[in-house]
Amino acid sequence: MALVNTSEMFKKAYAEGYAVGAFNVNNMEIIQGITEAAAETNSPLILQVSAGARRYAKHVYLVKLVEAAMADTGLDIALHLDHGEDFEICKACIDGGFSSVMIDGSKHSFEENIAMTKQVVDYAHQFGVTVEGELGRLAGVEDDVNVSAADSSYTDPAQVEEFVSRTGVDSLAIAIGTSHGAYKFKPGTKPQLRFDILAEVERRLPGFPIVLHGASSVMQEYVAKVNQYGGSMPDAIGVPEDMLRQAAKMAVCKINIDSDLRLALTAAVREHLANHPEDFDPRQYLKPAREAIKEVVAHKMIHVLGCAGKR
Ligand code: G3H
Ligand code: 13P
Ligand code: ZN
Repeated sequence: MALVNTSEMFKKAYAEGYAVGAFNVNNMEIIQGITEAAAETNSPLILQVSAGARRYAKHVYLVKLVEAAMADTGLDIALHLDHGEDFEICKACIDGGFSSVMIDGSKHSFEENIAMTKQVVDYAHQFGVTVEGELGRLAGVEDDVNVSAADSSYTDPAQVEEFVSRTGVDSLAIAIGTSHGAYKFKPGTKPQLRFDILAEVERRLPGFPIVLHGASSVMQEYVAKVNQYGGSMPDAIGVPEDMLRQAAKMAVCKINIDSDLRLALTAAVREHLANHPEDFDPRQYLKPAREAIKEVVAHKMIHVLGCAGKR
């Protein structure tokens, strides 16, 4: 087992019409739950770390935990920086052992986005590290950035060939109507994604791996459980699973999931503490939390991403 970049994973995913799950990690229980699910379902795996996760857990802990998970499960894993906002954080992750990074220049002008993405690609490729870029802007909350629906914008397919050829990126995240967090669509409206944009991007970049962010389904069983045990989440709505299955069959090779893990973990902790108010041993409530992560991830791999058995 080894840390691997995303090249071979994406080639196979594109050719065989499935997507690899990229799950956000922040601590040991999350890493264990995800990697146990990947090992049991025999799935390829990307673990991704945001700037906030790096601040919370510290870079070295996350790298060592992922190394431990590989030793424990025998999996090959791509360790990826999620939403790198500048060259410095991408360089720190490349120098610090990551096998893949995202440089997210989507809030900058087209020319600035190209310049910063190319700088990261030129550096990363010297070390065999793959790079994800982004064109178009998702709505929602990530870290300290909150992008309103008004400031979000779909990817313009007319820009993708120039972006990819001038930067040399290995994969491209596009905006087709998904968003970060648990409140993706207006209550009472039918969730819709711009599959026409995805199809046009695919036509313009044949064989090139596309990435979908903001792809949690916001599983209602966990929202209900959070609310049943003292939480209050109003009308949380995510991306329907059939849309993700459709995207995975198209050019989408990487699907990012974080919110569904947070929900499952929180629901399990709340349920445990509500039923065992006398408990104060963290292992007692983190054990069902880790189990809930494992269940959600296995479900995604088998029933949504189509990557089970593809390792
Ligand atoms: O895209 C954002 C991910 O959900 C990570 O969230 O920045 O709060 O760790 P975070
Ligand atoms: P969700 O908030 O839909 O889980 O998206 C996660 C993501 O895109 C991480 O980059
Ligand atoms: Zn994202």
